[in-house]
Amino acid sequence: MISPVEWEGDSLKILDQTKLPDEIIYLNTDDYHLVIEAISSLRVRGAPAIGVAAAYGIALAAQKLDSNDTAEFINKLDSVLEEFASSRPTAVNLFKSVSRMKNTISPDSSVENLREALWHEAQKIHQEERFATQQISKFGAILIEDGFTVLTHCNTGPLATAGYGTALGIIIEAWRQGKKIDVLATETRPLFQGARLTVWELQQAGVPVRLIIDSAAGYYIKSGKVKCVLIGADRIAASGDTANKIGSYSLAVIAHENNVPFYVAAPSSTVDLSIESGDDIIIEERSPAEITNIGGLQITPQQVTALNPAFDITPAEYITSIITEKGLIKQPFDKNLKKVLRSSKDAVS
Ligand code: MRU
Repeated sequence: MISPVEWEGDSLKILDQTKLPDEIIYLNTDDYHLVIEAISSLRVRGAPAIGVAAAYGIALAAQKLDSNDTAEFINKLDSVLEEFASSRPTAVNLFKSVSRMKNTISPDSSVENLREALWHEAQKIHQEERFATQQISKFGAILIEDGFTVLTHCNTGPLATAGYGTALGIIIEAWRQGKKIDVLATETRPLFQGARLTVWELQQAGVPVRLIIDSAAGYYIKSGKVKCVLIGADRIAASGDTANKIGSYSLAVIAHENNVPFYVAAPSSTVDLSIESGDDIIIEERSPAEITNIGGLQITPQQVTALNPAFDITPAEYITSIITEKGLIKQPFDKNLKKVLRSSKDAVS
């Protein structure tokens, strides 16, 4: 399984996803600024992978901070935490990682012990994401029947999760279990995470995949070919409203209109019980150049105004179930998300 981010010795190894699938290029860095740059520029991307990269990046910064005085060290680390928290706005995994790393800091520890504790916490976050995505793949695969055509959007595999994948983990697991499935992958404009990354990951896993343009999804869903739509998430509010890659909302409405189940797969680190609804989720606006240019070539007239929201919100009512590492969560999400995620047992409602 390919890993988008790995701690190696005293540096961080990041697979540059902007170069995939043409080139497999790793950045090896001990400079936390480059980790922030990698998150902002989508070299490392996908909600869980962003959280893992940020945790390692903070641990890396801690190794390098030039101070032997605990109070001064904590002060400097606080600004590092803020820098990471401003690298991308939507995926809650980033903020949860930053806050876990912050909670690891004790003013009574020596700087050496703090460095050690931060490194351990980053490793723990990574291990937890791996385990969570393994469980999600297992629970979710039950929903995929032999012969299904599954439509997925964006990229939700190992590259996006630093683990087994969420939506794509489920698809790969179902295939491994011997189910003869095939996948329709949307290209996912403007940055082509579907065309570049999902197709590549499914090919590596040997899963049959056909690429469609984003706007062909409705045609295939209406045709009856698609048996379910399965996506990941960047942030799920307490109501179940889900932020995911732009275009997810349209897919959900079309699936609903055609009585096709619409599933969201995400670890509990993507659920934000501190916000009630999707209205409270900040949607990242990215550079218009991502739309006006393809492969470095401008395809539009000069001076066009372009709008580039990276995510949208799918209202809970359009989501059939949410698959987490704790099991399958059904409607009503405003009750069941809290019940399942706050219980220590693997409750299935
Ligand atoms: O902008 P990206 O590539 O970080 O967006 C990623 C997505 O929207 C994924 O679908 C989401 O993070 C789920 S990843 C398991």
